[in-house]
Amino acid sequence: MPVELDNTEPLAWNSPDLDEDTKEMLETLQANILHPHVREHLSVLFLHFGDGGDGRRFLRRLVPLMKSAKEHLRELRSFRMSQISGTTYVGVGISKAGYRQIGDATDLFTDNAFQAGMKRRTSTLNDPPVAEWEEPYREEIHAVILIGDATPEPVAATRATILELLPPTARILGEETGLGQRNPEGEGIEHFGYVDGRSQPLFLADQVAAEPKDNWNPFFPLRHVLVADPLAPNPNRHFGSYFVFRKLEQNVRAFRQAEEQLADRLGLTGEDRKRAGAMLVGRFRDGTPLRLYAKPGEDPSPAVNDFNYDGDPGNKCPVFAHIRKTTPRESKDGGTERTLGVMMARRGQTYGVRTDNPWDDAPPETRPTGGVGLLFMAFNSSLVRQFEFMQRAWSNNPDFPRSGTGLDPLIGQGARDVPVRYPLAWGGNELSPPLPQVPQTVTMKGGEYFFMPSLAYLNNL
Ligand code: HEM
Repeated sequence: MPVELDNTEPLAWNSPDLDEDTKEMLETLQANILHPHVREHLSVLFLHFGDGGDGRRFLRRLVPLMKSAKEHLRELRSFRMSQISGTTYVGVGISKAGYRQIGDATDLFTDNAFQAGMKRRTSTLNDPPVAEWEEPYREEIHAVILIGDATPEPVAATRATILELLPPTARILGEETGLGQRNPEGEGIEHFGYVDGRSQPLFLADQVAAEPKDNWNPFFPLRHVLVADPLAPNPNRHFGSYFVFRKLEQNVRAFRQAEEQLADRLGLTGEDRKRAGAMLVGRFRDGTPLRLYAKPGEDPSPAVNDFNYDGDPGNKCPVFAHIRKTTPRESKDGGTERTLGVMMARRGQTYGVRTDNPWDDAPPETRPTGGVGLLFMAFNSSLVRQFEFMQRAWSNNPDFPRSGTGLDPLIGQGARDVPVRYPLAWGGNELSPPLPQVPQTVTMKGGEYFFMPSLAYLNNL
């Protein structure tokens, strides 16, 4: 039976009834696609192969360091049952230019964004011109290697092993170091201080079973992330995923100033001032969704994700809030993100070291203006219909979901010239006078599109 990508039930990965094709798919799919891999410490290497044959041999020699989705899921189960730590994650992605360089035809890849490469999509995405990107991203990147684990030591050791395997004809164009940030509750946060990575499409039965599902169905079929690997020995059984990488620098001081200024303009006082930032993000810093609560702290950990926006025209959670722009959740099972297939699997990690506490209320002047941000990463079955659509047609579009909505306050790129109105009280009908949109505080510094092939392909090189 071929792998069912339009599965109506989440995948029971360890069921004895699993068909042979799906078993082999799991045994040859890279880890971190179906289920996030721990990557608290993360090294991201960008490579250029001077010699295609050397590049091929190098990629094949990485396979023994990598694990399949199946091995990763087994490790997770062992960790849950007996706290046995898993092994280090090594992920490999190849760009269109990379495939060509190692001698593979690329016409079987159907995604136009992958075919073009990120440098040629700046006008589609309103990205800064390539000349303004950081140096490594301006070059022709052939491959990306992700090395991630819970502690720094195994990442350093695996990184050293990989560098030893690197042929002299290959060059490391650049490296990013991801470093997880956590609040005092131990939840992963991004640099503006908000809990992040909470809402994800879930593909596996054990993940879906663990979530309440009264108002939001977190289950999404495999079609959202898996693509038959066209260059693998058996594309009916060997799958991969398109991978987007973007370095997004965050000006934390400017964002915190924008929060304060908005709170002042709306006349918010005391604890209610926290609603200003929450209206930009859609959740309070502790992850409490504005759709459900007027104040933070009402919500147990992990943050509630069982909500949709039906019944909230925007007077609880404004329609321009980051999480509402990027996931409109009009209903439990029928939101646009589902019907259009937009939902992708986000696997980002923060970068940069903080000497202040990103989660607290210290004044904006004490916050960094650069050097910190998000290594945005996500798995897609279609870069055009998922990542690019979300960024272009939703976050950058002042008229989504309706005319005059304004840009996504966090990641919107483009003119922020439409004035916007905020609910003065949570759930109240009175709106503020038209106010300028908050300034852009996230800057794209470079990136690339890759395909994360199946282990069967890499083994066959
Ligand atoms: C959710 C921050 C970039 C798409 C979130 C959340 C935060 C956040 C705090 C709420 C946590 C959660 O619901 O999981 C940021 C920051 C970014 C950034 C600071 C840049 C520095 C992006 C980009 C995209 C994106 C580039 C896609 C183009 C999403 C999506 C959600 C989300 C889809 C989940 C919304 C939901 O399901 O309710 N982000 N994000 N984010 N973000 Fe971002």
